[in-house]
Amino acid sequence: MAHLPVKIAPSILAADFTRLGKHVTDAIVGGADWLHVDVMDGRFVPNISFGPLIPQAIRPLADAANIPLDVHLMIEEPDRYLAQFAGAGAARLTVHVEATRHLHRTVQAIKELGLLAGVALNPATSLTAVEEILPDVDLILIMTVNPGFGGQRYIPQSTAKIRRLRQLLTERRSSAWLQVDGGISAKNTAEVVAAGATSLVAGSAVFGGAKSVAENITEMKNIARTVFSI
Ligand code: DX5
Ligand code: ZN
Repeated sequence: MAHLPVKIAPSILAADFTRLGKHVTDAIVGGADWLHVDVMDGRFVPNISFGPLIPQAIRPLADAANIPLDVHLMIEEPDRYLAQFAGAGAARLTVHVEATRHLHRTVQAIKELGLLAGVALNPATSLTAVEEILPDVDLILIMTVNPGFGGQRYIPQSTAKIRRLRQLLTERRSSAWLQVDGGISAKNTAEVVAAGATSLVAGSAVFGGAKSVAENITEMKNIARTVFSI
């Protein structure tokens, strides 16, 4: 397979919220392609993170660097909040297929707001759930952990699912991003990129550990670049 562009999207959920602006700036300066914003409502997932206030707060930093806010809505009935997150500066809104009764209508509503639309699948949700909506979205997110918390371990069978989705996207000649989210780090970057992932969300691997944010991002980018370029 040809060398695909791979985007690194640090998840700000893992940032230090006592100095969020500094950490977001570190990620932007450190080479982040997108900023992944994890919104959790305590119903769809057993955790509550934050609402539009946070993307609103970091928007000036992202806009100044032309870095898109990649908003992942882990919330029930996301239609209720699409306009608010659009107003807060989201470039893309990704909704869970498990969280909306009328996915096609939700994707249409996102696009009517002028945003890019993504759909996300939990680990136990089959790829068949997105087959019909594939032509309408610009990103499919495969959860590689059960959603709700950062710092979890990558679910190993995700790799086969990533490979099957890559196959499906190739068959359909889709240019949609294949995003992986949860437990992604330098350790499994080669594995998920070789399987076909083109957007890597990483929280604890970027903002945690002993190395700097820039070193963590650079390490993942270098590994992604070496895949297929042998
Ligand atoms: C989990 C979120 C992920 C998470 C990633 O529900 O969707 O984006 O924050 O964090 P790490 O990379 O630490 O698993
Ligand atoms: Zn996420």
